[in-house]
Amino acid sequence: MASTLSEAYRDHPQYLHHIIPIDFSSVRSLPDSHAWPQTMDGAGRCSADDDDEEGSGLSIPVIDLMDPNAVEQIGFACEEWGVFQLKNHGVGLSLLEEVEAEAKRLFALPANQKLKALRSPDGATGYGRARISPFFPKYMWHEGFTIMGSPFHDANEIWPDHCAPFCELMENYQKQLKVLAEKLTRMMLGFVGISEEEAKWVGSSGSTGAVQLNYYPQCPEPNRAMGLAPHTDTSVLTILHQSQTKGLQIFKDRVGWVPVHPDPRALVVNVGDLLHIISNARFPCVLHRVTVDRVQHRYSVAYFYGPPLDYVLLSPLAEQARFRGRHSERVYRD
Ligand code: OGA
Ligand code: NI
Repeated sequence: MASTLSEAYRDHPQYLHHIIPIDFSSVRSLPDSHAWPQTMDGAGRCSADDDDEEGSGLSIPVIDLMDPNAVEQIGFACEEWGVFQLKNHGVGLSLLEEVEAEAKRLFALPANQKLKALRSPDGATGYGRARISPFFPKYMWHEGFTIMGSPFHDANEIWPDHCAPFCELMENYQKQLKVLAEKLTRMMLGFVGISEEEAKWVGSSGSTGAVQLNYYPQCPEPNRAMGLAPHTDTSVLTILHQSQTKGLQIFKDRVGWVPVHPDPRALVVNVGDLLHIISNARFPCVLHRVTVDRVQHRYSVAYFYGPPLDYVLLSPLAEQARFRGRHSERVYRD
């Protein structure tokens, strides 16, 4: 069994013809490879959704991290939605703007320059298609660049001799986002009754973070294309900075697709598969997707946070916490 992410990718390589994004800047009409039948995403996307976007009138919770009741608010938002917008998160607006500007600079490069950092079939980092691509029969209107630890190797392929500003910025961003992710993870685990003792990996040097730069170019036929098909994130939690172009939507039971409105000062936080399991499904891992726009490019920066790569989760931690709760209640009543 693969014990690290790199080994997992090595054991399940993606071959080159699957991962080279098309040169979107040279495409004038939607190729068949990228045209999604309206029922294909499994969650009923149709053009009517766009008109109806504000239809439900619902929006995801907005939480102020400085609020004295932030833990409860975050806990309730995770239970009800699995996602929320976070304000006063401590990450400077200028840092967010600089990271977005670097993403724009990278994706604006000519295709052949970006391809110098093409993710290898058995690699985890660099430039390429969405990782979820092989699970879908059509291609997405998307390019990505993945960073784990130092981006030097890949960035140096693209900008030989002058990749230092990009690398320093991305390393700084990872450091700051790790601190925020640890804080949020502790709050969420605390809310479901999991002690720090049981989740010692949070804040340890082994915990893992990855930055994913996403680019969704303008698209000639946005209603037939898909930026990122519906998926959940495998992380514990994801913290996303999105540019001003709308596109991100989350799926809410009995409601349907709900847009996540861009807010330059807020970060979008969502529960990943691992936290869903750890919390014994008290927190849903929210299904989300990205639509594309006819005239505007969209950029986003996702930070995925998770335990060390060799972490083994034997059973949901929250179930154990609840069991202890019931047990002590019984003892108390007896
Ligand atoms: C992701 C993701 C959303 C976005 O990278 O997993 O869901 O808005 N991104 O780009
Ligand atoms: Ni995602």
